[in-house]
Amino acid sequence: MAEDYLHRIRNKALRERVVTAEKAADLIRDGMVLGMSGFTRAGEAKAVPLALAERARRAPLKVTLMTGASLGNDLDKQLAEAHVTARRIPFMSDPSLRRAINAGEVMYIDQHLSETVEQLRTCQLPPVDIAIIEAAAITESGGIIPTTSVGNSASFALLAEKVIVEINLNQSEQLEGLHDIYIPTYRPSRTPIPVVTPESRVGFPFIPVPPERIAAIVVSTKLDSAANVSDPDEGTQAIAGHLTEFLKNEVAHSRLPSHLHPLQAGIGTIANAVLHGFIDSPFHDLTMYSEVLQDSTFDLMDAGKMIFASGSSITLSAPKYRQVMERFQDYKPKLVLRPQEISNHPEVVRRLGLICINTALEFDIYGNVNSTHVMGSNMMNGIGGSGDFARNAFLSVFVTKSIAKNGRISSVVPMVSHVDHTEHDVDILVTEQGLADLRGLAPRERARVIMANCVDPDWRDGLEDYFTRALVRGGHTPHLLEEALSWHDRLRRTGTMKPE
Ligand code: COA
Repeated sequence: MAEDYLHRIRNKALRERVVTAEKAADLIRDGMVLGMSGFTRAGEAKAVPLALAERARRAPLKVTLMTGASLGNDLDKQLAEAHVTARRIPFMSDPSLRRAINAGEVMYIDQHLSETVEQLRTCQLPPVDIAIIEAAAITESGGIIPTTSVGNSASFALLAEKVIVEINLNQSEQLEGLHDIYIPTYRPSRTPIPVVTPESRVGFPFIPVPPERIAAIVVSTKLDSAANVSDPDEGTQAIAGHLTEFLKNEVAHSRLPSHLHPLQAGIGTIANAVLHGFIDSPFHDLTMYSEVLQDSTFDLMDAGKMIFASGSSITLSAPKYRQVMERFQDYKPKLVLRPQEISNHPEVVRRLGLICINTALEFDIYGNVNSTHVMGSNMMNGIGGSGDFARNAFLSVFVTKSIAKNGRISSVVPMVSHVDHTEHDVDILVTEQGLADLRGLAPRERARVIMANCVDPDWRDGLEDYFTRALVRGGHTPHLLEEALSWHDRLRRTGTMKPE
């Protein structure tokens, strides 16, 4: 074991701080705030949180857990089931934790992903007591080289009182050089963030932590969990097709160049499938400025369509992970991973003019989007970066299938039951039925375009009937308030939105 990891701790004095995961977890006390690496199931600290969950089963304790985004290896499940997680910030996607949140047992602060560390830096959130960061190695100066995600790790490590580093022997040492750690200066005298292209490198390839703050080092071997997205299907392929046709038309009218603008694509099956659809498009020399790099990014690179991708994490299916790691030296010059406050920064998103493709659970006839709350109450995952991107995009696109749960639910409704993205932040809506281009349209015009293009035929008459009757009542955005959420109410009572 000694030879296996010592060379990864290049600061020799720090080698004395190697302890077991259990010993490192003993540093954590009841009521502490933990800042942990991990972003969309990539690069999370693995051994210490598992040891913490194990300890909590014997001797209960509760903590506030902040991460970059969702965690792999069932960590959120283990921590929730051991009742360790009292508060969770800023994103999650685990079913067990989701249940605890929706039961009111865990307080969940669902935040724009670019904002968490801004609030930490300015003491608007309670300070991080201990940062737990997965690393591929530690440099001579004590710098932490992250693994498959950066997320909030840099700021957590820099702001925490103590840092625990998990050196993961199964994360490739080739990851060194992939990261670009840049922390914005303090406001209100902040200078512009110097990222001017997706390729810009403006910071350090490691997190520059003073070695004396590294309290413990743990050696781990667990791999990242594989991405849990389904393969493209007929519906997602149709969505990709509509969006490709739309973008071709934008190019034909010189509103976009043939290499488009840098792309951002959200998490999940639909966004991944949509990006995959660009393989068969005429676009070329594509770039990404996104937060998660999924299989589709590497498929587009392999197809010769994408020349560079900037993200905050790499989250891949098991076969894709093997393939990417085998040829990592080929991909590395075309990749950079940044802190999520930079990958999602409104200033940079607006400067680069991103085409942002995110997923809705439902949207309404006026173009308001719900991405987080089922039936207005139950949290699905969180807003993630979708708000950071949509609000500041060159083109803000939302995609979803027009129906859910075998047709019992229409994803296009009279009024959304929760609003994450208002009509002001939504340019284009796409379902497998078609695409609604909402740019330059007033609410009454939007409703007609959405109903004509995006709605499943089974639900169109119902929406048109609602809209026609609302028009009689008048208003800039006509509604029948007593009926606006009746489709959701019917679903709650009868199990379907369909009329009784
Ligand atoms: N009402 C109720 N449930 C719905 C629904 C609706 N209108 N539309 C979809 N669903 C359900 C699906 O049936 C599915 O349920 P299941 O898990 O029981 O099968 C689930 O929601 C996920 O939908 P799916 O069609 O598989 O889409 P997805 O994997 O692409 O996920 C979101 C969609 C919205 C949940 C996901 O993209 C998300 O969490 N987005 C918010 C965060 C974000 O956008 N980040 C972007 C920056 S990275």
